[in-house]
Amino acid sequence: MSLISTTLAEDPAEEMFSWFRTMLDTEPVHRDEQGWNVFGYSDIARILADTKTFSSETARLFNPPQPDLDFFDMGNLVTTDLPRHRKLRSLINTAFTPRAVAGLSDRIDRITNTLLDQVKGQDTFDLVDSLAYALPITVILEMLGLPVEDEPQFRVWGDALGAIDAATVPPDLLANEVGPAVRELNEYLLEQAERRRREPTDDVLSVLANAEVDGKPLEGGEIVGITGLTMFAGHATTMAAICNAVLLFDRHPEALAEVRADRSLLPGAIEEIMRLRPPFPRLARITTVDTEIGGQAVPAGELVTPWIAAANRDASRFADPDRFDIRRDTRGHLVFGQGVHFCLGAPLARLEAKIALNVLFDRYSALSVDHTTELEFENPRQLICPRHLPVRVTA
Ligand code: HEM
Repeated sequence: MSLISTTLAEDPAEEMFSWFRTMLDTEPVHRDEQGWNVFGYSDIARILADTKTFSSETARLFNPPQPDLDFFDMGNLVTTDLPRHRKLRSLINTAFTPRAVAGLSDRIDRITNTLLDQVKGQDTFDLVDSLAYALPITVILEMLGLPVEDEPQFRVWGDALGAIDAATVPPDLLANEVGPAVRELNEYLLEQAERRRREPTDDVLSVLANAEVDGKPLEGGEIVGITGLTMFAGHATTMAAICNAVLLFDRHPEALAEVRADRSLLPGAIEEIMRLRPPFPRLARITTVDTEIGGQAVPAGELVTPWIAAANRDASRFADPDRFDIRRDTRGHLVFGQGVHFCLGAPLARLEAKIALNVLFDRYSALSVDHTTELEFENPRQLICPRHLPVRVTA
């Protein structure tokens, strides 16, 4: 059971989207007890570009600090600022370029088919359990070189990391649940890295374990953070992208028919799906100096929450923004962030979503959400995704 998720029958993301509309129209920069919520596209683009004023090192908000998280954060790209960020990112960049991940296409296709073979002959199944969760976790574990059979354990650690919500995580949850889980994760990854130092293999973890920067090997926390982040950033998000695609196609059968008939429309449709239902609705930054956002004075040391899911629905950037249009020019959407922290795994996520959907369309002449069962959703402020997605299929 996730520490963060709530189980709701209605799609709670829709309520959040109406809140975005109200805020975009009335108060695009809003202060609450935790900090500053920012909704407009141009304000958010400026925040993401100005990494000096808007730091990613939000762990400094934890008071008291949590040592196991601090260790993990030594290599956590998302919460590290320049110049150290550049050094860490350059160590794994090459494994995730569009060209490098294109080489994984056949493997992704095979994994997808093997997973769907397990529900062969069934006319209903849960897409999360059968494909959307299992595919990205298998792919990322194989790339990193971690044993796929340890996956149930990663789920527990991933839930603990998912519970971290910048300044808002309750201190007792941080100390009693998140901390111990992160410690176990750190120890596990360190042990795996040690093995790669003794016997190098050809996976990403081996590269990290044996890398040298300025003539020195990486520190344990750096290896653990980069590996752990990549593992966790790489699966819940892609799972959400696949599920949200099936959900939106179910709500827009005319778009589904068009894509089925002309598969060259699929990549554009996936971008539009992610624009409207981005897996991560928001990012987190902290101000390093007194500044202003949208004309409002913001002091140093404050939490800033750029709601990228709202920016993607800002009418000043995307005309008729709430409309689902698979032919829309979606360039500039903020699904994967922007600037130096732009998602490292974007090419991989796009490829996995495209292959998963193509295989589903190939194997099934009809695919729809099974509305006889109640849908459950994650907390959309953390992850916009159904918790389970029962589907009905016709071979
Ligand atoms: C649809 C799927 C995905 C979405 C929506 C997504 C979203 C994001 C976003 C918004 C950021 C920027 C965070 C920030 O600026 O604070 C990010 C960073 C990152 N993502 Fe993804 N991601 C996805 C898939 C993946 C995959 C498959 C991987 C696996 C390699 C991955 C690895 C990373 C890493 C390592 C970073 C940190 C980059 C940095 O800070 O330099 N992501 N992702």
